[in-house]
Amino acid sequence: MTFKPAEWPRKLRSQEWYGGTSRDNIYHRGWLKNQGYPHDLFDGRPVIGILNTWSELTPCNGHLRELAEKVKAGVWEAGGFPVEVPVFSASENTYRPTAMMYRNLAALAVEETMRAQPIDGAVLLVGCDKTTPSLIMGAASTDLPSIVVTGGPMLNGWFRGERVGSGTALWQMSEDIKAGKMTTEDFLEAEQAMSRSSGTCNTMGTASTMASMAEALGMALSGNAAIPGVDARRRVMAQISGRRIVQMVKDDLKPSDIMTKQAFENAIRTNGAIGGSTNAVIHLMAMAGRVGIDLTLDDWDRLGRDVPTIVNLMPSGKYLMEEFFYAGGLPVVLKRLGEAGQLHKDALTVSGETVWDEVKDVRNWNEDVILPVDKALTQQGGIAVLRGNLAPSGAVLKPSAASPALMKHRGRAVVFEDIDDYKAKINDEALDIDETCVMVLKNCGPKGYPGMAEVGNMGLPPKVLRKGITDMVRISDARMSGTAYGTVVLHTSPEAARGGPLAIVRDGDMIELDVAARRLHLDLTDEEIAARLAEWQGPPEVPVDGYARMFHDHVEGADSGADFDFLKGCRGAAVPKDSH
Ligand code: FES
Repeated sequence: MTFKPAEWPRKLRSQEWYGGTSRDNIYHRGWLKNQGYPHDLFDGRPVIGILNTWSELTPCNGHLRELAEKVKAGVWEAGGFPVEVPVFSASENTYRPTAMMYRNLAALAVEETMRAQPIDGAVLLVGCDKTTPSLIMGAASTDLPSIVVTGGPMLNGWFRGERVGSGTALWQMSEDIKAGKMTTEDFLEAEQAMSRSSGTCNTMGTASTMASMAEALGMALSGNAAIPGVDARRRVMAQISGRRIVQMVKDDLKPSDIMTKQAFENAIRTNGAIGGSTNAVIHLMAMAGRVGIDLTLDDWDRLGRDVPTIVNLMPSGKYLMEEFFYAGGLPVVLKRLGEAGQLHKDALTVSGETVWDEVKDVRNWNEDVILPVDKALTQQGGIAVLRGNLAPSGAVLKPSAASPALMKHRGRAVVFEDIDDYKAKINDEALDIDETCVMVLKNCGPKGYPGMAEVGNMGLPPKVLRKGITDMVRISDARMSGTAYGTVVLHTSPEAARGGPLAIVRDGDMIELDVAARRLHLDLTDEEIAARLAEWQGPPEVPVDGYARMFHDHVEGADSGADFDFLKGCRGAAVPKDSH
């Protein structure tokens, strides 16, 4: 990739606000001086917005104000003018009905925050799951120079000598309680050990996956993804990213220069190699849509199929992000992809160098954490995209987190009409279900839930768990937490609430899953399916007003990234009309 830096010096957009002697220039500049800024700071140097998703209700990003200070130090050092700006923080563990419902709202707010204000470039301070894609989406739609700095993962959790992986342990322990293998007292004691430092989930969950995606895309400096939140090197990363964004503004190195089709292909293959979250499928497609790149589910299947999962981290494997960092982190994985011919080596990164330049000399320091290919967790680590009469527009499954014995399975459907129906029935000993059945959950897609909650990894019925069974085939239009595992078919499209075939599955129908053949089949005739769809009454409730109505009316399907139809594409940074 050849990138030609812009000429410097030149007039930046922030000078529309701060340069000159007009009444409006004085208005913009004079008011900011109440913060104690000397006049010469308004001399045309790059104004860097540090877009901070810090919030006390986003605990994974709770340390980002400290990191922002390091970013500011870097911006000052490089001759920029840093301004810290709070932006919408969609916390995974507090937002209801689900943080995913607010990803697009956050992206919209970020886009407008950047465009409407005197910002020449941005440092995206992110961490918790949705904060990373939402800020990248917003920044991409303005196409102003931007660099991602993540907060980094928490240190390992430890409980009675065992690693406690964020989320993964929670799902496991809650199943153990239902199976009578763990007491509530022990569960509460384990809670104390789960989150022992600042940072994001320490598994290869969605937060770590999206940090890895940002790095693989080239939107973060090399090595950013895995540094623990409390490691001094995290603060160093923040500071040098602050320095770097100033030069990116001078060079006019924009998201559209970096987020190319090649970059997205690198990210997809990286996701296979790290055993990353299925949520990356939706987020990367939405991010691609913002820069006008046509990324499809078929790209995911095509590119991920032959990528071995070599990162031995929960939920697919054994270790946690802290150990991934000590082993060398994502650069080692990118180097391995490059050596296998599975990396576009000349893809550009925020450093101004190619991805291969960044990783070609790194070393793997622990081959039990980053495995040799012949010891990979699975040789086919990418996301499997399934199709068939039950998912005409596709569904996804993560092979590295699934049970090999269930990858080809035919079973009787046990249907839950929505999440409340599931909750009402699942613990009922009279429920007609055994481990050979296929659990089907409807109305949990983008429109149906609304927001597409992470409920696809439905807990198993207690009577099955008591037999020592830990996995069953589960199918839904929902998402699954990146920290979760199981033979779980997700994002089934079109979703039930849009009248996809999932809506007409009934108890007792036979369903066939064949991952190798990429097939998801409802064993009914076309005529029977058509007849049932003709009878389908539609989703029970449509929100009447507020953001829920906007979301319902504009959210697209999971198969294209669940963005809003009116937000796709890059709108640039030009202000439509200045009232001053
Ligand atoms: Fe925030 Fe996992 S809940 S990173």
